Amino acid sequence: MKKPNILSQPLKLRCGTTIKNRVCKSAMNEAIATGESRVVRGFEVLYETWARGGAGLLVTGNVMVDRFHANEPLAVAVEDKRDFLILQLWAKAAKTNGTQVWAQLNHPGKQSPKFLNKEPIAPSAIPLASDMFVPPRELKEEEIQEIIEKFTTTSIILKEAGFDGVQLHGAHGYLISQFLSPKHNQRQDKWGGNLDNRMRFVSEVYKSIREKVGKKFAIGIKLNSSDFQKGGFTQEESLLVCKALDELGIDMIEISGGSWENPVNRKGHLKESTKNREAYFLEFAELLKKTVSTPVMVTGGFRSQSAMIEALETKAVDLIGLARPLAIDPDLPNKLLNDNGVTSSVMPITTGIKKLDQMAIMEISWYTDQIRRMSEGKEPKTKVRGIWSVIEVLFHFWQRGQVVKKVRV
Ligand SMILES: Cc1cc2nc3c(=O)[nH]c(=O)nc-3n(C[C@H](O)[C@H](O)[C@H](O)COP(=O)(O)O)c2cc1C
Repeated sequence: MKKPNILSQPLKLRCGTTIKNRVCKSAMNEAIATGESRVVRGFEVLYETWARGGAGLLVTGNVMVDRFHANEPLAVAVEDKRDFLILQLWAKAAKTNGTQVWAQLNHPGKQSPKFLNKEPIAPSAIPLASDMFVPPRELKEEEIQEIIEKFTTTSIILKEAGFDGVQLHGAHGYLISQFLSPKHNQRQDKWGGNLDNRMRFVSEVYKSIREKVGKKFAIGIKLNSSDFQKGGFTQEESLLVCKALDELGIDMIEISGGSWENPVNRKGHLKESTKNREAYFLEFAELLKKTVSTPVMVTGGFRSQSAMIEALETKAVDLIGLARPLAIDPDLPNKLLNDNGVTSSVMPITTGIKKLDQMAIMEISWYTDQIRRMSEGKEPKTKVRGIWSVIEVLFHFWQRGQVVKKVRV
């Protein structure tokens, strides 16, 4: 009988949970919620497909903690129990096969596009370098406390619905990462200034959730290794934040990088050494592993089974995060665990129109379209040209009619 590879090894977390293997589906915004950011049955279909695909852990796409502040159209929000029954079905489906499911929690802060949000908020009133976003208003102290409460309320509801954990979205330029960045957070009060102050928001969010969900519920974070921006959050600072969260008891740290202003999850930006090891943030993960005792996951660039096995065997990481490969092949984890020499067939997505190809939206649309197909019980359709998926996704958004004028009830 074939010896199981290291990807099959279980991993025990501090909260007492054991993840059955080392393959994790990383967060991908599903973009299938209603225009009012409500949960739909498609989540159940989609997550059962991914659970049957064999990953040990499924991290959901980002779930908004406030439906009036969304990062993308048709992103789901959980603020109260109005969708509780469907949330329960979603969690149950995702746990098929002994899989763990964590919901990724997000508040986009100022990175909320103007067709969704006319009044974005941020640690400081510093605009983003893009016309897509309205310049933000600086958060008041009491509003910061309210957002911490929102993260906590969402976590409590998700725990009650059956999710095994939550992951804070602290990467990619959203609110948590805006607080961490000296470029985007220039507050003069206890929430800004030195790193201790800038990390207060994420620490308070963590502590508030932990107090309410207890020690046995997993809480993780996705964090940038750095913002790769002049005057932004540095690698040294990221290590210090991870150390502090480790000391607070966080269950897992996933490393990523970049933001809307500066996307780094694309091959063009890579050093030769990184290209050889496939994953983008492995050098940072190695440093991090020497700094923290909580498990470390890297997402971004992993494609071949051999690179994944090497990253685990050399102890650069404890878990392998995969996003785009699982949008085109939900069964990939089973293949990685059971066959030899497996490689994901993810390829760069192009339309043939140079301007469009340079935009992140084109690639995201293509993968979003695959995810929507799976949520409808269909297979991914990888032969679709990039331009068609942009059109299909735009049509889908229009059909669901996401509008800014949502009404608080
Ligand atoms: C369609 C799509 C949606 C994404 N949505 C999220 C998200 O909601 N939260 C998040 O942290 N990352 C999100 N990402 C980034 C992925 O989690 C991941 O970090 C990135 O795609 C690099 O990993 P990969 O090379 O395995 O695809 C998304 C990526 C794609 C392609």
